[in-house]
Amino acid sequence: MADSISLQDKVAIVTGGSRGIGEAIARAMARAGARVVVASRKIDGCERVVSEIEQAGGEALAVACHTGKPEQIEALMKTVLDRFGKVDVLVNNAATNPYFGPMIQLAWAAWDKTFEVNVKGYFEMARVVARHLIERGAPGAIVNLASVLGQDAAPMQGIYGMTKAAVISMTKTLSVELGGANIRVNAIAPGLIETRFSQAMTSNKQILDMVLERTSLKRVGKPDDVAQAAVLLASDAASYITGETLVIDGGWTAS
Ligand SMILES: NC(=O)c1ccc[n+]([C@@H]2O[C@H](COP(=O)([O-])OP(=O)(O)OC[C@H]3O[C@@H](n4cnc5c(N)ncnc54)[C@H](OP(=O)(O)O)[C@@H]3O)[C@@H](O)[C@H]2O)c1
Repeated sequence: MADSISLQDKVAIVTGGSRGIGEAIARAMARAGARVVVASRKIDGCERVVSEIEQAGGEALAVACHTGKPEQIEALMKTVLDRFGKVDVLVNNAATNPYFGPMIQLAWAAWDKTFEVNVKGYFEMARVVARHLIERGAPGAIVNLASVLGQDAAPMQGIYGMTKAAVISMTKTLSVELGGANIRVNAIAPGLIETRFSQAMTSNKQILDMVLERTSLKRVGKPDDVAQAAVLLASDAASYITGETLVIDGGWTAS
């Protein structure tokens, strides 16, 4: 049993690792000793993160991958196995939220895109990595980025909220089905975190004031507020934690 939070000798894939929360997780995992695969659709952003990890003395690999496309996930796994020979940790983080508005006015194209990336993409990544771990007979950890909007009502972001509820459900069932193989599956449910993704909300004074009013710590979260929790859940320090969703929201859901 490890007595510190370390990812030494682990290989970790972080989807959506090119910016925001995923970037913070990729950097934190590299600092904890992991060799990190930074994946997203646009290779430039991934390469920037990889080069900064390398400059800080870490080891990382940039791979372009649209996680809503199973054939691109297959290609990602091949590239990772060619370079590192294995995967121990998966962080499912790449997500999208193209529609803001009342649920009943949604167009199917937005539904399809949101479910394709946020649910199908997470599921396909999880099972490809789980099959690899089972084949190797190795333990592993999967960390899924959900959202507090998957636990509570999500007015104006209802479809996104539904996909995040699906992620929490997927996390629980996979944790049961994969527990016997010593693969732990947990989720993190952030509240409002300052990234490009949440800019529409953080730059709207009315919405921001409403969120801060209900947030015990009276500030919006930063990607680094989430990153350390992801490292913990991926590490052996969390060896008896599985099937859980850790809320990181400055106290928003508690009040
Ligand atoms: N920010 C918040 O307030 C907040 C709150 C709760 C939960 N979350 C969750 O936290 C996670 C990260 O959010 P964030 O705020 O860090 O978002 P972000 O800053 O917009 O970053 C999103 C990342 O995902 C990648 N991405 C988007 N679509 C992709 C696709 N189809 N395939 C592969 N990569 C894709 C983006 O890179 P490319 O453009 O290169 O693909 C980027 O690296 C998401 O799961 C989100 O739902 C965020």
